[in-house]
Amino acid sequence: MRYTMALSLALLVSLVFAETATAKKAPAEEQVLNIGHRGAAGLAPEHTTASYDLALELGADYIEQDLRMTKDGVLVVIHDEDLDRTTRGPAKNCTGPVSDKTLAQIKTCDVGSFFNERYPEYARDKYAGLKILTLEEVFKRYGPQTNYYIETRSSEAPPGNPGVDDSSGMEEELLRLMDQYGLREPAANSWRVLIQSFVPASLAEIHAQDPALPLVQLYSAEETSETIQADLEAAQAYAVGIGPSQDDVDSGLVEAAHARCLVIHPYTLEEKSNMRDLVALGVDGMFTNFPDRLDEVLGESAVDGNLAAGRAAEAYRACQSEAGGPAIPNTGGISLLIPVALGALLLGLGLAATMLRRAARPPR
Ligand code: G3P
Ligand code: CA
Repeated sequence: MRYTMALSLALLVSLVFAETATAKKAPAEEQVLNIGHRGAAGLAPEHTTASYDLALELGADYIEQDLRMTKDGVLVVIHDEDLDRTTRGPAKNCTGPVSDKTLAQIKTCDVGSFFNERYPEYARDKYAGLKILTLEEVFKRYGPQTNYYIETRSSEAPPGNPGVDDSSGMEEELLRLMDQYGLREPAANSWRVLIQSFVPASLAEIHAQDPALPLVQLYSAEETSETIQADLEAAQAYAVGIGPSQDDVDSGLVEAAHARCLVIHPYTLEEKSNMRDLVALGVDGMFTNFPDRLDEVLGESAVDGNLAAGRAAEAYRACQSEAGGPAIPNTGGISLLIPVALGALLLGLGLAATMLRRAARPPR
């Protein structure tokens, strides 16, 4: 009888542990963040006021900024290392690397006309003549009530994502501007600003200066679900989330990220069918060139951007707290369920053996 009870206890303990391991929820379950990639880059010229305005109007919770630094040390929002693809204007000022130009030169460039040339179906006369924005101009225009998803770019970034010299002081200047515009505390508490990078060293530098800031480690499209999973232990040391290419996302990656309380925000979605697939896989947000499409996919589950960001921050903290601090340890891709259940079973069997021995003793 006692043996049966002990064995039952062992099995119960195993099941409880197993349930805890498998039922670990997404840090922000049911709250999928709508991140406007370069604003609403599918509908308006990327990283312009027109693009950011439209993204927010169409339901984006965050507007994204890709940071570059000018020759005279000003942070501007533009994706490419070179000006050639997205700007028109005097060749001396508007071709070649951003880092070779002063802000005064860059301000002579038109960053809207390329869009009208390339996407005539979405062209608008008002896009012609739009200027590259400084990060400060973005903060001034959109204020502390907007959510920003800011990418630091560096020369260490992978192919396809080249960047500026990592000695540019970009991280320090970003933090200075966040302080100046009152964004440091809302970032830490409510994820009003998320900072992303392909370059771990850039995020590590920011983490060293302020470990409370929420950081997201990006992974290039050359990675796979498996290689990203292998890096999660390292990322977890400084990041609250990961940003993989949408093609690298599978259930294994989502589960592995969530097991470490890391949110997962894939890039860059365009089609609703792909958005639905990622929502079904359990991602916590996604970058999209069409925030309106994602807003339609999310339907009634979409909420106000500040509320969404705050809930994501709270869910992350709850996950961390539930996990007893950082990190479920890396098991090299092997489910934690098996060792945990076996451990509990062995403990139970040990208890059962002890009870049996006691039962077999002659009465004193
Ligand atoms: O930052 C997420 C996504 O924007 C990464 O791709 O090259 O558009 O910056 P990219
Ligand atoms: Ca980006």
